[in-house]
Amino acid sequence: MSGLSQLLTRGILCLCILPIIYVAYQRISSPLKVVPGPYLASVTPLWRVYHVIRGDWHDQIVQLHQKYGQYVRIAPNEVSTISPSALRVAYSHSGSPWIKDTWYQTWWGPSPYHPAFAETEVQRHRIMRRRVSKLYSMSYVLGMQCYTDRVLQRFFQQMRSLRGESTNMTKWTQLFAFDIIGELAFGDWFGGLDAAKDNHQLGHWVFLTITAHASLGWTWLRAGSVFFFPVRLLMNRSLYARARVQITTFPLVERNTLILQFQAMKNPDGSVVHPREILTETANVVLAGADTTAISLRAVIYYVYTNPRIYAQLLREIGNATRLGKLSPIVTFQEALELDYLQVVIKEALRLFPAVGYQLPRLVPPGGATLGGYYFPGGTTIGTNAWALHRNTEIYGSDCDEFRPERWLNQSDPNRLRMMEDCYGSFGFGSRTCLGKNLALMEMYRLLPTLFRDFDVEVCNPQNPWKVTTGWFAFSNEFQVRISARDDVPPLSHGPVASGKANSVTADHE
Ligand code: HEM
Repeated sequence: MSGLSQLLTRGILCLCILPIIYVAYQRISSPLKVVPGPYLASVTPLWRVYHVIRGDWHDQIVQLHQKYGQYVRIAPNEVSTISPSALRVAYSHSGSPWIKDTWYQTWWGPSPYHPAFAETEVQRHRIMRRRVSKLYSMSYVLGMQCYTDRVLQRFFQQMRSLRGESTNMTKWTQLFAFDIIGELAFGDWFGGLDAAKDNHQLGHWVFLTITAHASLGWTWLRAGSVFFFPVRLLMNRSLYARARVQITTFPLVERNTLILQFQAMKNPDGSVVHPREILTETANVVLAGADTTAISLRAVIYYVYTNPRIYAQLLREIGNATRLGKLSPIVTFQEALELDYLQVVIKEALRLFPAVGYQLPRLVPPGGATLGGYYFPGGTTIGTNAWALHRNTEIYGSDCDEFRPERWLNQSDPNRLRMMEDCYGSFGFGSRTCLGKNLALMEMYRLLPTLFRDFDVEVCNPQNPWKVTTGWFAFSNEFQVRISARDDVPPLSHGPVASGKANSVTADHE
């Protein structure tokens, strides 16, 4: 045998033997070998990636926990948990050594500046979060709500014009959420509601970008190359170009916007932040804040209009408030905060349908951790997926699959209620909870009671209302409804809408 063929034979042998050794290690020697889960998941992350690309990960993860229990091995080095005690450890507040997994680095671009959401270093994240948290505080959001009036008015005008036709509510809620984020972030909407279509294909690119990140987060491709292809396309005209113009022509608009506030951010030494950081933070608002809100709106609309008892109860609450003159033509955030039943209806719908359908991966600190009787070495990835967590019968009871807003009101056991609250993960957990929660709630608390009061909605296919595709977001496609304005409600052309100027409200809940 010549030297070359000998080398080839050895190479081929190696190629055959290495995977066998790798599989044997994962099955026989890995400390995670005792954690139950599908065989394929224990030997390759591709099994999980396959389900993310297929879009059924939100379903898979629920089934996995039903089959295997509170801890499931979902990749060679990754475990999913729905245990309340594990949650307390992995997602605790500041000072904890548990940090976001390197999976989040997929979201980094080639520059050193990335959004707060994807920052894995604790100290740096703390600085980033502190400098923007004011913008997302309750007082600030109340001040910004006047800028949502135009979008809400346009949304309801469009709904009125449908007159009982069947329509795709996925489209309308997306257009609404993107237009509102446009108003708040840039001081001008994207114009989707006016045109009745996604002019800039924003929704499409955002979804593609986010799914690509969720699937490829485990690979070396996270170095940024994946990130830039779709985001550059997204940059065109609609998003990044718009942000650039505003950054360079500061202040372009007279009124308050998020981008203007990001421009005022300072580094710890008092210096102004790099324009790229402003760009990244602004783009992140669009990426993080539009789809999530639209998906959540659809969930509430679906659960309410397909549950006559709950809809009737809601109408009673809204009717009482209307009779007392407590509701504006377009309900304001403050007015909705007085509607207790509405609030638990929204909370319960988001429990059953969390907008993020992926786990929130965290890294076991050096030294390892023992949870649920399993030992996890430092560097293991552990995550919780709200879809599975919210269907844990030990937390939410044997009727956890049911849409029952009363579970939040009539809970006689205070410990159970506390556990339900602690495990409510629709907006994330601990020191990394959603920064935009108040903004998202403001949008939902305005649109939903106005819709319930003024419109009849029939869900065309209540048993199978949409097709859910999960990348990072659990995106509900093709939500077909028939919508008509109720006769007894005057059209919305005039009357007071949200009052208040930006920053005029001082009470701060944060
Ligand atoms: C109903 C709507 C929304 C839902 C369900 C939602 C959900 C979430 C979740 C689950 C997380 C945690 C992610 C993680 O731990 O990896 C998160 C983080 C975040 N969200 Fe939201 N979100 C919503 C709306 C918004 C809006 C409107 C904005 C901004 C305008 C926003 C900005 C952020 C940011 C900046 C983070 C990162 C926080 C950090 O890491 O410190 N979100 N969101």
